[in-house]
Amino acid sequence: NMKKITNICCIGAGYVGGPTMSVIASQCPDIKVTVVDINQDRINSWNDEDLDNLPIYEPGLKEIVSKARNKNLFFSTEVDKAIDEAQIIFISVNTPTKTYGKGKGQAADLKFVELCARNIAKVAKDDKIVVEKSTLPVRTASAIKSILQHTGNKVNFEILSNPEFLAEGTAIEDLLNADRVLIGGDDTPSGQEAKDTLSSIYEQWLPKERVLQTNVWSSELSKLVANAFLAQRVSSINTISALCEKTDANIQEISRAIGYDSRIGSKFLNASVGFGGSCFQKDILNLVYIARSYGLMEVADYWEQVIIANDYQKSRFAEHMISSLYNTISGKKIVLYGWAFKKDTNDTRESPAIAVADALLEEQAEILVYDPKVSAERIYADLDYLNTRSPEENRRLLKVTNDPIEATAKAHAIAILTEWDEFKTYDWAAIYENMLKPAFVFDGRRLLDTETMNSLGFNYYKIGQS
Ligand code: UDX
Ligand code: UDX
Ligand code: ADP
Repeated sequence: NMKKITNICCIGAGYVGGPTMSVIASQCPDIKVTVVDINQDRINSWNDEDLDNLPIYEPGLKEIVSKARNKNLFFSTEVDKAIDEAQIIFISVNTPTKTYGKGKGQAADLKFVELCARNIAKVAKDDKIVVEKSTLPVRTASAIKSILQHTGNKVNFEILSNPEFLAEGTAIEDLLNADRVLIGGDDTPSGQEAKDTLSSIYEQWLPKERVLQTNVWSSELSKLVANAFLAQRVSSINTISALCEKTDANIQEISRAIGYDSRIGSKFLNASVGFGGSCFQKDILNLVYIARSYGLMEVADYWEQVIIANDYQKSRFAEHMISSLYNTISGKKIVLYGWAFKKDTNDTRESPAIAVADALLEEQAEILVYDPKVSAERIYADLDYLNTRSPEENRRLLKVTNDPIEATAKAHAIAILTEWDEFKTYDWAAIYENMLKPAFVFDGRRLLDTETMNSLGFNYYKIGQS
């Protein structure tokens, strides 16, 4: 007696909603998928004839969008119409960390989610399955449910939690070949039916055993815990990278040695200048906030250390640069390679590059930034948001360039902050010639070969190696 799904909508056309719905549309040609957003510019970009203008960059995304768009995949600002027509509504709006009031700096701000729920309640004229897709703190589903039940038009809503595990830069691959899909919902007959309905959509392209059903609490908490564990691995290896730099141990050899233990596993053990992205820090802060709110102080303190270690790694990197450059970088030209929080994305949220640049700017360095996918507007917006100095000062001290080689003319140092593949292909001998001597390269992503760099004459520092 499962309802046949012919029409779904997604509220929020961002890094999660856009790629996820594009993949669902491409895998389910019989379902009409409408992605809506209140941001007209964003929707215009999703509809742009020129697929290079899509609002987010993901390998493989434009191919999928070009196949499905205006066939069974639509991008629109007509939120109410899309809600009205859909049998399943995904909520995929942003949930930033609160910048005000109770839980400031830790709790997730749910105002966009609540607005969505109220809007669904107002518009819906028949029964709907509402799916929370944003990363949300535990118990959001019950908040959404309460809003829907008390303000609606007496229709039945089933609320499901369906957290997204895609990583940026590999979103399409992760969606097409997901390790697992998690669907949380009530164990009532109608809850079970809703879970089965949503499962059947994913089962159109994923093996049945990879679609896991749980209760709502487990589903919501699993998302936070998965990200906390992943971030913890990065912080763990990064703290050991600091120890390696003081000794003759080599972080890569350690990652390899421990990764061979099948209980540990080899993935996610790359030492770096620090983790970034919209999820790790936010989700851990959330976990910490939830633990504290239940009086579990030891639990909260344990996970908070993952963030403290990450902040330490970023400032340690910047301090190492400053001390290597004879403790004075005022007026020195320093080139930053990479601004995105990882390669193959134009996303810069929580990027370690922001913290490193800010620390160098505090010392009055002259900075030139090159990133193949990030715009100058984005870079300045990231810096201005910190409020460390005036926007004019940021623009005076930091410039953005689209010529990575010319940028190195008369530079004192280069810092590699994102692991873009193209950095490996540069003519480093020519770059060496361009630079002032001694020429420093600070490799925050362990991208280049130590022996080659040293033999070219560089003063080459690689995170995790003395
Ligand atoms: C993460 C989770 O991987 C994904 O499952 C979840 O849905 C959202 O959060 P994302 O933030 O897009 O995805 O990227 P991810 O590949 O996890 O990298 C996060 C950060 O950790 C990046 O800054 C990356 O450079 C850093 N990282 C990752 C390391 O420094 N070392 C590693 O070994 C792995
Ligand atoms: C450990 C390492 O596994 C081994 O590689 C090393 O050489 C010596 O230390 P051991 O202490 O013998 O081995 O046992 P192990 O199976 O690792 O268990 C250690 C403790 O962790 C036990 O008390 C075990 O009950 C506990 N544990 C283990 C858990 O509580 N939960 C788990 O999931 C795994
Ligand atoms: P994520 O990484 O979670 O996908 P993004 O910030 O990339 O987050 O995308 C969230 C999108 O949700 C934004 O484009 C924003 O305009 C949109 N949005 C927020 N609130 C609403 C709302 N009430 N109705 C429709 N769209 C919304």
